[in-house]
Amino acid sequence: DVPSLYEVYQQHFHIGAAVNPVTLKSQKELLIKHFNSLTAENEMKFESLQPEEGVFTFDNADNLIAFAKQHEKNVRGHTLVWHNQTPDWVFTNKDGSLVDRDTLLERMKTHISTVMERYKGDIYCWDVVNEVIADKGQQLLRDSKWTEIIGEDFIDKAFEFAHNADPNAALFYNDYNESDPLKCEKIITMIKGLVDRGVPIHGVGLQAHWNIYSPTLDNIRKAIERYASLGLQLHITEMDVSVFDHEDKRTDLIAPTEEMLQRQTERYDSMFQLFREYSDVITSVTFWGGADDYTWLNDFPVRGRKNWPFLFNENHQPKSSFWKVID
Ligand code: XIL
Repeated sequence: DVPSLYEVYQQHFHIGAAVNPVTLKSQKELLIKHFNSLTAENEMKFESLQPEEGVFTFDNADNLIAFAKQHEKNVRGHTLVWHNQTPDWVFTNKDGSLVDRDTLLERMKTHISTVMERYKGDIYCWDVVNEVIADKGQQLLRDSKWTEIIGEDFIDKAFEFAHNADPNAALFYNDYNESDPLKCEKIITMIKGLVDRGVPIHGVGLQAHWNIYSPTLDNIRKAIERYASLGLQLHITEMDVSVFDHEDKRTDLIAPTEEMLQRQTERYDSMFQLFREYSDVITSVTFWGGADDYTWLNDFPVRGRKNWPFLFNENHQPKSSFWKVID
């Protein structure tokens, strides 16, 4: 008999999966049995919820919430302010020119409050701001319409609007390449600024889009230690362990090799050991999917390539990595 992953981890942290309208059906039994937290893969992003100004489309998000209520799952909200999957109208006037600061702040506030008030009590935490730190170099924030039009304080404003909309929601900053030493320090600098200014932020989301070679366990451990020193809770928000490293561009594999699976098992084993060590600060570990039959890594970043990044195979059966993680 296969034990339930989330039940095994009940004393440590939530176990989550990203879902979409297709996997909510095709992976239904797997989700019910093994995960006690759900994140919408795309359905709560700006372009999904407010494709046109004032036109809110909640159907897919509502369906996820209904599923979560029926099966008693927690829901993480993802995401309110991001440079991707945000419609152009948000930043532009009718004539195509960029809006001014006050207009964009007003639009941000309307979006955040409309969405968060609708799901008050149903969504216990939100990725309020996603991926604003520049990957390389000394520049702190990436270039985006948000910074260009509002200025650097758009981050403070987003958290303040979010806190006003739902004072009970835990508010997160979420980013990727979070274990890269340079980017980690920049994320820490940005968040320390928020904390020092009294901005309502309660957690850091570490996306954890990793592969079977990198980042090194040592870098992951150091990053977790650094984030933990902020005194906020940590969520692993989008974990997947790709079987390809960054240079591997092969497209001919129809199944993972034994060596890949072996490495993946070792990686999952040591990563979950690490998470357990820090389970006083790590309160949730979410995978960016449920099982290997669907992952956004199919076709990305290499087209025509499949990937097998999870603990369950394409038939929703446990892989050797699953057995290690629950051992
Ligand atoms: C991805 C989805 O998985 C894809 O379906 C979509 O096409 C692009 O976005 N960081 C994030 C997530 O915060 O929202 C992204 O999700 C993956 C990277």
